[in-house]
Formats: sequence, C-alpha cells, structure tokens
Amino acid sequence: MALRGEWSAFRHLVFLLRRIRVRPIHLIVPLGLSMGAAFFEGAGMGLLIPLLNGFLSKDFSFLKDIPVLGTALTRLPPLLVGSDRALFATLLGLFVVVILLKNVLRYLTSIAVSYFSVRFLFHLRRQMFARYLSFGRLFFDRTSAGHHANVLYESSFLGIQPLMEMDRYMNALFSLVSYLAIMAAISWKLTLFALPIFALLYFSVRKLVDKLGKLSQDLAAKRGELNQKIMEIFSTIPLVRAFAAEDLEKKRFALIGEEKARIDMSMSVVQNAVGPFQEMITLFAALLLFSTMLYLLVRGGAGTPPAFIVYFYMVINVSNRFGTLSSIRTSLANASGPLDSVIAVFEDGDKHVIPSGDKECTGLHEAIRFRDLRFSYTGDRDVLRGLDLTIERGKMTAIVGPTGAGKSTIIHLLMRFYDCPPGTLFLDGTDIRAFRTDSLLRHLALVSQETYLFHDTLRNNIAYAMDDVSEERLREAVRQARLEDVVSRLPKGLETLVGDRGMKLSGGERQRVSIARALLKGADILILDEATSSLDSRTEKLIQEAIDDVIRDKTAIVIAHRLSTIRHADKIAVIEDGRCTEEGALADLLAKDGTFRMLWEEQKFT
Ligand SMILES: Nc1ncnc2c1ncn2[C@@H]1O[C@H](COP(=O)(O)OP(=O)(O)OP(=O)(O)O)[C@@H](O)[C@H]1O
Ligand SMILES: [Mg+2]
Repeated sequence: MALRGEWSAFRHLVFLLRRIRVRPIHLIVPLGLSMGAAFFEGAGMGLLIPLLNGFLSKDFSFLKDIPVLGTALTRLPPLLVGSDRALFATLLGLFVVVILLKNVLRYLTSIAVSYFSVRFLFHLRRQMFARYLSFGRLFFDRTSAGHHANVLYESSFLGIQPLMEMDRYMNALFSLVSYLAIMAAISWKLTLFALPIFALLYFSVRKLVDKLGKLSQDLAAKRGELNQKIMEIFSTIPLVRAFAAEDLEKKRFALIGEEKARIDMSMSVVQNAVGPFQEMITLFAALLLFSTMLYLLVRGGAGTPPAFIVYFYMVINVSNRFGTLSSIRTSLANASGPLDSVIAVFEDGDKHVIPSGDKECTGLHEAIRFRDLRFSYTGDRDVLRGLDLTIERGKMTAIVGPTGAGKSTIIHLLMRFYDCPPGTLFLDGTDIRAFRTDSLLRHLALVSQETYLFHDTLRNNIAYAMDDVSEERLREAVRQARLEDVVSRLPKGLETLVGDRGMKLSGGERQRVSIARALLKGADILILDEATSSLDSRTEKLIQEAIDDVIRDKTAIVIAHRLSTIRHADKIAVIEDGRCTEEGALADLLAKDGTFRMLWEEQKFT
C-alpha cells in the first residue's frame, strides 16, 4: 500500500536531510533555543499563579512554601522581598523578565531555522542541478524542460516548507510539554482526564489531511504542465506568429490554467476547513474540562481559584499548541506532491546516465572503428543497423547520405551523447566506453547541426568553457571562421551580447560562431555536422579553405549534403538506412555506378 501523503513526505524529507548531509549543529541550535523559550514560557505561566493568589488575598506569605521559588526569594536582599508590596513588584518584574527572555529565544529560534532552511534549499538546488547535468541526453529527449525548471525552482521550495516552518512546530511541542507539566502540577487528575481529548484533536482531521495529500500530488503535476506550456510558448513565439495561432495558444493556456485553478480551489476548501474544525473541537474539549474543573472546585480540595483560572487559560493554550503541532500534517501533506518530484531527481531509474570508464584518453593515434554497430534510440527501431566504418587518424573522412540515414547518430555515439552497445565502437582498439568521458571529449571538437548560444558576449560564446584563451588565438579563430566582418558590424564587437535577449545573429552567423568555438578548442579530431549548410557558397568556400588549413594535421569528420564541400576528402562513406553502403575516395566512388554517383550527378549543376 502506498504511504499516506504526510508519511511519504516525512520520509522524503528525512532522505533529503541525509542526502544533503546537514550538520547536526544546524538542527541542535534551534532545538536548544526553542526548548529554552518553552522553559521560560512555562515559568512565566507558573509565576502567574502566585502573582494572582497573592494579589487577591493581599498576602504573599505563602510564597516561602513554594519549592523552588520560595528558596530563591529568601536569597534576595530584603529591599526586594521585605514587604508584600516589594514581593509583588519583584514577582511582577521576574514575570516580565521571563517573558522577555522567552521572546528573545523565540526570535533566535526563528533566525536559526531560517538560516538552516535557506542553506538547505541552496544545497538542495545545487545537488539537483548537478544531478540534472549528469543525466543522459535520452532523458532530456523524453522529458520536458519546463517540468525540470519547475521542479528545480518551485518544487524544491514548496517541498521543504515543513522544514522552513520547523520553528513553529518545535515551539508548539516544547511549550506543550512545559504547559502540561504545570497543568499536572496544578491538578494531575484533571490533566490525565484532558489528555485523551487532545488525542481526539489529532485524529479528527485525518480524512482532511489524506485528501490534502492527494490534491497536492495533482497540483504538482498541473504546476509542471503549466510551466512546460509557458517555457514552450516563449521559445516558439515566431512559429505562433507565423501561423497566427495566438487564439489557439490562449485557449490551450487557459485550459491548463483553469484545471490548476480548480485544484487550487479544492485544496483551499480542504485546507481552510482544518483550522475551524480543530477550533470547534478544542472549544468542546475546553468546555468539558471547564465543567469538570468547576465540579472539582465545588467539591473543594483541588487547588485555588487562581490556579484554576491559570489552568483554564492553559487548556486553551495547550489546545492551540496542539492545533499547531497537528498542522504539521497538513504542511507535510501539502509538500508531498512537490517532494515526490524532487525525490524523483535523486532516483536512478530512467535517467539514461552515460557510464564513464576510467581510462584516460590520450588522443587518437591510429583510427576510430565502428564495428557491426546496431543502435536504437527508442528500443523499437534500429537507427544504425550493423554499421562498419573506419576513420583514420590525420585524414578527412566525409559522411554523406540521405536525410534520416543515421549520420548524426554516428557522431552522437562518438561524442558519448548516447551509449553504444559494448564492443561496437573503438578508438585505437580500445572500446570507447572504457574511456573517461571528459578525457575523450577533450580530443573532440564538434560543430553540430544545431547551433547553441548562451546569453553572453560573443567573446564568451566563442571561448565557452575554455580557460586562458589568449587574445591572439581568439582573433585567429574569428578570422578562420570568417567572422571578422560580423564582429566589425556588431555595435560592441566581440563584447556584444548575443543569444537570448541579445543581438540576434543570422543562421549563417551562428554557424560561424560554432565553427570558431570548435577551432579555438584546438582538439585533434574535428567533427563538422552540416557545419556550413546555412552559408552562401562564397563564404562556405572561404571557410572551407580555412578548415582545410586547420585540419591538415588533424583528423576530420565532415558530414555534408552539399557534396562540393567534401571533394577533397581522403575517404567518403555513404550511409544509407543505418549502414555504410559505399566507401572510398571521390574518384573510386564516381567510378562505381552507385548511390554516390547518383547523388553527385544530381548536384552537379547546383
Ligand atoms: N533523440 C532521438 N530519439 C529518437 N529518435 C531519434 C533521435 N535522434 C534521431 N532519431 C531518429 O534517428 C534517425 C536518424 O537520425 P539522424 O539524425 O542520425 O539522421 P541524419 O542522417 O543525421 O539526417 P539529416 O541528414 O537529416 O541530419 C531518424 O529517423 C531520427 O528520427
Ligand atoms: Mg543529421
């Protein structure tokens, strides 16, 4: 049976506390402070009885018979305890000091809890972020960025709400204990009678809390959906405009928003019922106790009227504290939905993490070999179907073939974006899976079909993740990628902000940024996947020359639809339907009357 919302939330919080490695001191300090506050709160209440008693009877002589207080008072100078009036003033002063101390400690408790929860949230998000970065591309292919953004930002916050409110619960618990102690001191019989009534309070809201837990899960799902829609719409605005689909999108947004509003409302209905419901039961309990108290008083013998006034006051207070304490369940139930999403980030299933080996990759010395490689993204359809291909060091290997044949997939496997089956892809005879991924990637520079820009300066976009890039090398890469004219046209040159919210670059300009980035990386294997497809043929030719220059002593893998760009390749491999069907130098392939020749003839005049 699935755990009830509040319990699973509790378990999840304990898991996170251990996972984040919270130092015990962070919990001990607020606990200690809260205990101290409760002690003074109880002491304050305890002082009220002699104060009232003495005030009503105008006689404080009974004070010396009170155990702790009596002895303490006799130690004070006569000025403070010499007369009834002085005693009254001293007691009152003591009462004020005790209440002051209680409040100071309360305040410090809240600050300690805030400190703890702010740090906790920070570390939680940091660990979640690190987890996300470790997941494989397949995970991101199959899930939505909007959902992840929501989990990372909002669910983490909502999930740890019970911890953020910890001071309330601690205070309630400890004052409850101190109140009960004083109540028992006044009349243990009555207190014994009261206890089951408080227990009733706890169980009375069980159904409501269960319902809240369930709604919280639904709400978390809807929140994710809404966020996904928001993220999606802002990244597809041009498409929406082009299709004049504003009304359609408004409707879709409203639909999700409305469903969420409905759950929000149900949640509010249930949540707000808890308080009044508890108050009614409290009142009922208090009345019951009060009648019992009066009965005991009339029968005589059990305490003085002031003691009962204080007792009654404390019954009301205890009920309130009990209410607060049991609202921890509402809080946990509320957090259970967001917590489930947070915990899912820390679970291992379905994350498609790419295993990293422990061998250091020292670069390519002979050749990259694909051997009878079968690969499928989804598990049902093989995209590569027994691929055999050799890419030699220091040579330029071109990969051509129809769209969807699996060309980019070959690169994805080489870059370890996806995991290939063991024994199918080798680098100098070593299975690529044996290498430490970061050491392997150091030797590979990719210009992919998609171009990515960060919201940052052009300079930082080109030198992304590279340390100590000299101005000279950067300029050289800019020159080789034929970016100089772009840089000179930009208002602030290399310091211009590009990407999101920055200067917009054209498709061809973005491609050249990617090329500059790859060239600057200076890896010994350069991979170009349709890297120049958006460029006009003149620029393409210029870049081609620069690339030819750069790759002279490097290994290059070039995927191109425009066959003129791969004319100089040492080897051309034709990929069709996940297999290599033809390979050889240009002349060999043209001599063969195969697919390549057909493609070549088709493009001859373009
Ligand atoms: N992440 C993915 N998840 C599932 N299927 C994918 C994924 N990426 C690619 N595919 C499928 O794998 C097949 C090969 O895709 P790939 O990108 O390798 O083709 P390509 O030869 O590079 O084509 P193009 O010339 O259009 O770039 C396609 O049918 C595509 O739908
Ligand atoms: Mg491709």
